[in-house]
Amino acid sequence: MSANGFVLGIDLGTTNTAAVAYGPESPGPVSILHGRDQPVMPSVVSMKNARLPIVGWLAKDMLLTDPLTTIYGWKRFLGRSPDSEFVARYRARFPFRIQGDDSGRLGAVVGNQVVPFVDIAAMVLDQVRLQTSAMLSRSVRDTVIAVPAHFNHAQRSAVIEAAARAGLNVMSLINEPTAAALAFGLDQKLQSRLLVFDLGGGTFDATILELTENVFDVKATRGEGFLGGIDFDRAIMNRLIEYCRQTHHIDPSEEPIVAQRLLNAAESAKRMLSAHECVDIRVPMIGMDRRGDSVDLEYRLDRRELEQLTAPLVERAIGTVEEMMRESGFERQHLQQVIISGGQSRMPLVLRRIEQALGQAPWTHLDADTCVALGAAVFARSHEHLDGAVLLDVLSVPIGAVLPGGQTQLVFPANTSLPAQRAIAFDGRTDDRGVSIGLFQGADIAAPDRQMLGILRVPSHMLPRGERFLIELDLSEGLHLRARFRSSTQTVPLVLEGAGAA
Ligand SMILES: Nc1ncnc2c1ncn2[C@@H]1O[C@H](COP(=O)(O)OP(=O)(O)OP(=O)(O)O)[C@@H](O)[C@H]1O
Ligand SMILES: [Mg+2]
Repeated sequence: MSANGFVLGIDLGTTNTAAVAYGPESPGPVSILHGRDQPVMPSVVSMKNARLPIVGWLAKDMLLTDPLTTIYGWKRFLGRSPDSEFVARYRARFPFRIQGDDSGRLGAVVGNQVVPFVDIAAMVLDQVRLQTSAMLSRSVRDTVIAVPAHFNHAQRSAVIEAAARAGLNVMSLINEPTAAALAFGLDQKLQSRLLVFDLGGGTFDATILELTENVFDVKATRGEGFLGGIDFDRAIMNRLIEYCRQTHHIDPSEEPIVAQRLLNAAESAKRMLSAHECVDIRVPMIGMDRRGDSVDLEYRLDRRELEQLTAPLVERAIGTVEEMMRESGFERQHLQQVIISGGQSRMPLVLRRIEQALGQAPWTHLDADTCVALGAAVFARSHEHLDGAVLLDVLSVPIGAVLPGGQTQLVFPANTSLPAQRAIAFDGRTDDRGVSIGLFQGADIAAPDRQMLGILRVPSHMLPRGERFLIELDLSEGLHLRARFRSSTQTVPLVLEGAGAA
């Protein structure tokens, strides 16, 4: 039992962070409020004064006035290496500069220093801890944090490191769609196979689970690390910029503050268009015309145009679901229920396309803002209750090995049930230098953006002459990897050396 009996579930979202606590006396969950009486807090940190960072709602307000020192969208960069292809592709989309610090940790440049994104994550989590203490009048340390299902080992480690820095003890991580399913299945004692469609602010995951009583058995999962509401906002913003260029001969993209105001206007318009057919966007003073007069942007956006602009993004999400179903052998008639989580899933086009692709209207009654935090809290509580939820999970990102000859071998394919054991077999060899194999994780284990998990070395004196041997690998539920060398005469544990990003 945790020290004072309270446990916390945290949804560390790209755009918003939410937390739900369970206490020993209170039978129900308590949603932690984060100022402005909101159950969520923007995952935004203002570093305008680097010694006094501001987190949450006030920081979000500062996006408009100080875009170069207000850090948002950082979750998509957690656990990534500064020289990765991912960073090269996406860094230009942010007003602040993104680069590695002296020890190779990726972060945002503020003044003349790099603030690592893992530190930014720690500031957000620290704020959650402070809010929780303030609301419950006690300190809470034990937590379950939800992460995107497709997060790899390095991304998960970064979240755990950030939590430790914020004074939190991570009992375990849980995948976001699984947490949403837990919130859905809470006390329902259902028996059903569900698909969770989770399109949030920055990331997308689809997961199929089977629920039997209180057992949540994940069967398949697939996701994308750069697909979410922010991309929808940008698609609208790009349309507004094009309009300003054509009509007013002004390029707002050159001015970070104006671009940020357009992005905010785009986001509000997008939300309004989930409930209305048409919205008038108005952004005053976006620049000067040729006569030196100040120009206001006025643009009428209707739902049809919004859908045209963002259809390619929706199709990427639907395509990911279809691929996951194909890969795992499920068909739409195998699904009893489709549930949505994540704010961007509320868009009518998304709901329509889910219904077309899966043959049933999704269940839309989960509270999109807090369901993931609630599911994480349910799981945290179940660590302490023997009759609590039981979670059986799968590996979301495959793990493979590069063998001494240079060829790659898939060792743990996507959707392998966890925990799992596999062995790599070697024919008898008498190599004087021993044998080394590299272990990697990535959607395509031969692709350059794969992540290196480490190297296993078997020294030459251990190699049996002319006889087969095995390297056995155990992968735990928390993605901890353990390795052993096994021959007919001995079994020796191996150390995974030099883990880091490739
Ligand atoms: N009614 C709505 N219609 C369309 N989009 C919406 C609506 N409500 C919220 N959104 C969008 O949902 C996104 C935020 O969703 P959510 O809070 O689930 O994301 P997150 O948890 O921060 O991110 P992630 O889970 O991807 O890390 C924002 O882009 C927001 O604009
Ligand atoms: Mg989310």
